[in-house]
Amino acid sequence: MSIQKTVRRITAPQIAARKGGEPVVSLTAYHAHTASIADKYCDFLLVGDSLGMVMHGFESTVPVPLELMIMHGKAVVRGSARALVVVDMPFGTYEESPSVAFRNAARIMKETDCGAVKLEGGQRMAETIDYLVQRGIPVMAHIGLTPQSINVLGGFKTQGRTKDQWAAIEADANAVSEAGAFALVLEAMAAPLADRITAAVPIPTIGIGASAKCDGQILVMEDMLGLSPRVPKFVKEFGRVGKAIERAIKGYAEEVKARSFPAEENTYEMKE
Ligand code: KIV
Repeated sequence: MSIQKTVRRITAPQIAARKGGEPVVSLTAYHAHTASIADKYCDFLLVGDSLGMVMHGFESTVPVPLELMIMHGKAVVRGSARALVVVDMPFGTYEESPSVAFRNAARIMKETDCGAVKLEGGQRMAETIDYLVQRGIPVMAHIGLTPQSINVLGGFKTQGRTKDQWAAIEADANAVSEAGAFALVLEAMAAPLADRITAAVPIPTIGIGASAKCDGQILVMEDMLGLSPRVPKFVKEFGRVGKAIERAIKGYAEEVKARSFPAEENTYEMKE
């Protein structure tokens, strides 16, 4: 008996093949329900370690443990059917050596059933990217502002503002591409530099605060929904979800206090 799923997920090689073609649409996703909504419109969903700040109230992504990424990764895979799910490798789980990175990346892939992992870093991570890809793990790279290095960078700052910084960042892009990454996130990067990198590398660049000319874009879902209390200037808010939540909760509290809470029917049958 063959067990066939009706919907086939987008794969890492299919994302790689989008270089220079139809723009790649992506968002972060951390839980099943929002993943199922985004799945209709996104080519890949990133279970970003930004979940540490967005969902769990950490000051940075540095404290995020592997187990948390796996838990949210499982939820996003369960909630989606079509989009490639990419799970971030959190700080401390891949930098030490290629073999440590493989052990943790393999754990993420086996336990979540995701299709790829993402890790931060350019030239310094090239050997590890090559090691993972050679052993069956598709890797999305991430350069420019790398939030896991916040304590070295000293803050969330746009990278490549002055031309003297460009050569090192371009070398990072070339190194991860040559090492076999299937796509490359460019975060908080001067637009002319992002454009040069997009023109130079053979893999899709995915911009976040980089350039409209990248091969695709990603945003933190809560930021673009208008749910995050503070967002970087480059974020366009496509919704006002935070305000809608507050209005709904205020209305609910008022009805409970007025004892006018409307039970339409006291049954657990689902509404149409
Ligand atoms: O963790 C994350 O959400 C990310 C994106 C901002 C690219 O890495």
